[in-house]
Amino acid sequence: MHILKQPLSIAFLAQSALAVLYTDSSQLPKSEYDFVVVGAGTAGNVVASRLSENPAFSILVIEAGGDNAGIEELEIPFNAPAALGNASLFWNYTTTPQIGLNGRTLAYQRGRVLGGSSSVNFLVFTRGSRDDFDRYANVTGDDGWSWNSMFPFMLKAENFVAPVDHHNTSGQFNASAHGYRGPLLTTLPGFPSAIDPRFIATTETNSSLLPFNLDANAGDTIGLSWMQSTAGHGVRSSSATAYLQPVLHRPNLDVLINAQVTRLLSTGDENGIPVLRKVELSQTSSGPRTIVRAKKEVILSAGPVNTPQLLLLSGIGDRGNLSALSIPTIVHSPGVGRNLQDHPLVANQWFVNANNTLDDISRNATLANELLEQWRATKTGQYADGPANQIAWLRLPPDPAVFGGFGDPSAGPTSSHIELLLGNSFASFLEPPPPNGSYISVSTNVVSPSSRGSITLSSADPFDFPVIDAGFLTHPLDIKIMAQAIRTAMAILSTPSFQGFVLAPHGALANATTTSELEAYIRNSVTTFWHVCCTAKMGTSEDATAVVDSELNLKGVHGVRVVDFSVLPFLPAAHPQAAVYALAERAAHLIQSRWAA
Ligand SMILES: Cc1cc2nc3c(=O)[nH]c(=O)nc-3n(C[C@H](O)[C@H](O)[C@H](O)COP(=O)(O)OP(=O)(O)OC[C@H]3O[C@@H](n4cnc5c(N)ncnc54)[C@H](O)[C@@H]3O)c2cc1C
Ligand SMILES: *[C@@H]1O[C@H](CO)[C@@H](O)[C@H](O)[C@H]1NC(C)=O
Ligand SMILES: *[C@@H]1O[C@H](CO)[C@@H](O)[C@H](O)[C@H]1NC(C)=O
Ligand SMILES: *[C@@H]1O[C@H](CO)[C@@H](O)[C@H](O)[C@H]1NC(C)=O
Ligand SMILES: *[C@@H]1O[C@H](CO)[C@@H](O)[C@H](O)[C@H]1NC(C)=O
Ligand SMILES: *[C@@H]1O[C@H](CO)[C@@H](O)[C@H](O)[C@H]1NC(C)=O
Ligand SMILES: *[C@@H]1O[C@H](CO)[C@@H](O)[C@H](O)[C@H]1NC(C)=O
Ligand SMILES: *[C@@H]1O[C@H](CO)[C@@H](O)[C@H](O)[C@H]1NC(C)=O
Ligand SMILES: *[C@@H]1O[C@H](CO)[C@@H](O)[C@H](O)[C@H]1NC(C)=O
Ligand SMILES: *[C@@H]1O[C@H](CO)[C@@H](O)[C@H](O)[C@H]1NC(C)=O
Ligand SMILES: *[C@@H]1O[C@H](CO)[C@@H](O)[C@H](O)[C@H]1NC(C)=O
Ligand SMILES: *[C@@H]1O[C@H](CO)[C@@H](O)[C@H](O)[C@H]1NC(C)=O
Repeated sequence: MHILKQPLSIAFLAQSALAVLYTDSSQLPKSEYDFVVVGAGTAGNVVASRLSENPAFSILVIEAGGDNAGIEELEIPFNAPAALGNASLFWNYTTTPQIGLNGRTLAYQRGRVLGGSSSVNFLVFTRGSRDDFDRYANVTGDDGWSWNSMFPFMLKAENFVAPVDHHNTSGQFNASAHGYRGPLLTTLPGFPSAIDPRFIATTETNSSLLPFNLDANAGDTIGLSWMQSTAGHGVRSSSATAYLQPVLHRPNLDVLINAQVTRLLSTGDENGIPVLRKVELSQTSSGPRTIVRAKKEVILSAGPVNTPQLLLLSGIGDRGNLSALSIPTIVHSPGVGRNLQDHPLVANQWFVNANNTLDDISRNATLANELLEQWRATKTGQYADGPANQIAWLRLPPDPAVFGGFGDPSAGPTSSHIELLLGNSFASFLEPPPPNGSYISVSTNVVSPSSRGSITLSSADPFDFPVIDAGFLTHPLDIKIMAQAIRTAMAILSTPSFQGFVLAPHGALANATTTSELEAYIRNSVTTFWHVCCTAKMGTSEDATAVVDSELNLKGVHGVRVVDFSVLPFLPAAHPQAAVYALAERAAHLIQSRWAA
């Protein structure tokens, strides 16, 4: 079903039973809508879907990538890593040489397809903590961002469904912390892993090392919890499948794919304040530019890399940076593209005494094919599950040797310092799986990083990739915390339930004994968790580095809101997507309230 590669007439036919996805701006029935949403990603589709519930509003969504429908790679939960980097589904970005990582550059993927990164991510569904949201409320002075205010939007987004194996999930989640009527399917693992009971046993033998947490999505994240994933009935649930596709038939909603927005343009002034309700787009760098207008608002949902890029291209950013590229400054907003935060990931592996890890799937084509056929036939089996069954979020003791001088970077006691993602196979984004042997992985993460990076322009050409500096490990606290995360993983794997099972650390970790060796291993091993955040942060009117106000209006102009992961001032202590769905639900509510008749 690759309609993008077919002639236009067939593209219309292919979609006619449902609705039309426009593949060329010349097909659009009009050039002015109430709302123009830039980016049909995780947040953009939530906003478009909710706004189009009101038949009085007309909405256009513009997406640079193509259709997600029928792409099996995106539907199979277990397959998420396999699709990584495919240029027809991703923005194939690369970071600048990272000074904290011995000058290494990192592949820096973002989804470029309907659903954005929610169509290509690893399905981990974690909301963050009560303290994360209360800190957003504190920093913005808007109680609407507090945990208690956001909790209804979290439930509104969600439809928690039974796992594919229909096992008894009592004791594996907190039923009152979930929604059951929202669009987005979430679920527990439906295929047991042989390592699951070992980690559960450690929570019983040493709960101070590894406490059990019934549900990390109920406000307090600390401890080991069963994984929750954005899937249902064995298939990925994304903002495209959950929010956009079901409403494509609405006559007040138009979706244009394969079209890149190149900048926002001024439509004049209101009381001396520039109004930016004009959107310029193009299909190729040299192609003709088309203009569409928003009568009410432009909603910028291009994600934390492309939203600041588009703002800078539109003359909203640091005046000095803009004039260096001869871009006229419309609003001097020095926070645009700054404050970048991302989670550094170290995928640590251990050689284990077992025959039943998932390593064979990557080595044995017959087995992989059997699992694929099982998934195709019944949407069950290993391919129906995401990449891990359990996840731990832990706090470190206030050891001055770790935190000395810097204080606690987390939002508070319900937020963790470290994450341990527990995998029953060899996981790595640097090294292929070894040809034999069985492995488990504990991927470690510095959850509240102190390092900061940036997004800047390489040129004034919108089709040139932006310059991405992830800033990994440029703050001295982050590497200390990462070292503690790895030591914590080692302590857990030394508990009795792993005796005789875990044989030895793999690779350079085996040699990393002293602190300086461990730190050298970390600088050579960090890759990204793909959680780039915070590049157009919200804040109070007094905060000159805040790009949007607490209702997500772009400061200094009329007619533009930013609704995506860029707006959070801090990373949540979590994988991002659940927070993105919740913030987009609140944003849709704010926009509906603003324009209510
Ligand atoms: C490989 C990978 C794995 C991940 N794993 C997880 C996970 O397991 N769990 C989790 O919670 N999070 C995960 N994340 C992160 C999470 O998916 C993102 O943080 C989140 O989806 C971001 O949502 P967003 O709406 O801000 O941006 P996106 O969902 O990225 O949406 C932005 C959209 O805008 C479009 N766009 C950009 N520029 C333009 C333009 N100029 N014109 C038109 N359209 C444009 C893009 O193509 C995209 O569709 C992962 C991310 C990646 C990339
Ligand atoms: C990339 O994705 C496209 C669209 O699904 C698919 O046709 C193609 O085979 C994929 N390429 C690779 C290398 O996997
Ligand atoms: C992705 O980017 C990398 C690094 O720049 C490059 O080597 C690779 O060829 C790119 N892949 C595609 C499919 O364009
Ligand atoms: C919010 O601010 C109040 C008052 O300054 C403070 O007591 C509280 O700890 C803050 N909470 C968070 C999560 O930052
Ligand atoms: C599920 O397990 C719980 C706890 O062991 C038990 O009380 C409950 O009866 C079980 N439910 C079903 C449907 O078997
Ligand atoms: C379950 O979640 C609800 C709603 O967040 C919360 O009030 C309750 O304390 C939680 N219960 C447990 C046992 O965690
Ligand atoms: C639990 O783990 C901690 C940290 O490794 C250790 O200090 C403590 O002795 C352990 N407790 C038990 C009961 O094993
Ligand atoms: C942007 O401006 C800042 C502050 O003036 C400066 O440090 C930085 O080098 C500039 N970056 C670019 C890419 O021009
Ligand atoms: C692995 O399988 C072989 C052959 O069945 C068996 O001899 C061996 O004991 C198994 N090892 C483990 C750790 O289960
Ligand atoms: C590969 O998997 C198939 C199917 O499960 C199995 O029959 C076969 O023995 C496996 N081959 C090897 C070399 O393990
Ligand atoms: C992998 O195979 C090689 C060559 O047969 C052997 O020397 C090595 O011990 C094996 N490693 C494991 C982990 O089984
Ligand atoms: C560990 O160190 C020893 C001695 O320096 C070296 O021979 C070996 O290659 C190292 N192993 C790894 C995996 O780096």
